[in-house]
Amino acid sequence: MRHFLDWRDVSALDLDVILAEAVRRKTARKMGDNHTLAGKTLAMIFEKNSTRTRVSFEVAITELGGHAVVLQKDDLQLGRGETVADTARVLSRYCHALMLRAYAHASLLELAQYATVPVINGLTDLLHPCQLLADVMTVEERLGSIKGKKIAWVGDGNNMANSWIIAAEKMHFTLHLACPKTLTPDATILSAAKARGAHITLGTSPQEAVAGADVVVTDTWVSMGDDDTLTRKQAFRGFQVNAALMAQAKPQALFLHCLPAHRGEEVTDDVLDGAQSAVWDEAENRLHVQKAVLLWCLGEI
Ligand code: CP
Ligand code: NVA
Repeated sequence: MRHFLDWRDVSALDLDVILAEAVRRKTARKMGDNHTLAGKTLAMIFEKNSTRTRVSFEVAITELGGHAVVLQKDDLQLGRGETVADTARVLSRYCHALMLRAYAHASLLELAQYATVPVINGLTDLLHPCQLLADVMTVEERLGSIKGKKIAWVGDGNNMANSWIIAAEKMHFTLHLACPKTLTPDATILSAAKARGAHITLGTSPQEAVAGADVVVTDTWVSMGDDDTLTRKQAFRGFQVNAALMAQAKPQALFLHCLPAHRGEEVTDDVLDGAQSAVWDEAENRLHVQKAVLLWCLGEI
């Protein structure tokens, strides 16, 4: 069973296959996709809001000839206490693949444990693996191979930061994280990646992280499920990605953000809308990687 839950469970070779397919699909789309997934249905369960993940997956499976069913948790019996396991068993009888956006990563693992069809991680509190595929694809289409590049993460040690740490190990790039000392990434993920030889540093200085970087990445200071407290926001003083910070990276450095952005908080308008920003390509690439993930999960590549 090919679940796509966590890059750590996917071989480097399969990640390359998925990324190469995404690149091919981006070109192929201009000619019209073939309907490789005709008759296939993807169920998408959302515990939290989504724009990019919801729309890119629905368009992806539709353009491949299949169909998506979008399910908000509270519209399901899941919202009234039916278990994740029973939901997995039932949806597996109707659908060919399931995608879940969940608060707790444990819910995703439970869904995958009981589903008899592939399960895709559409974001949890721990990881956002589909987003990382789009991010790597975007870096590589602008700068060539990500191997050996210096990536700077500035901001929260959240699901995206954890995903970048895993990617640094799998894709052999250097990752310099700057996070407030109270908001660091998952310690197990970080120490395991470093123990396996990944080139990763964690500090509290955005300037040090960004110095000479090929790519500067940030994300919201308040993720879905976080308490939007003043104390939390205060911890990010000095962590805004603005023109002064970008000036310390390489002159042609890219700026990435998985979006949604909170303009004027973690990033300024001039950076987000500026020449170094690749965020709209990054968002578009979600569509192409989603197709590749679906094709991989369903054994078509
Ligand atoms: N980047 C991302 O996953 O966006 P959505 O929350 O809009 O899906
Ligand atoms: N870290 C953010 C990413 C949103 C796509 C969140 O979890 O809300």
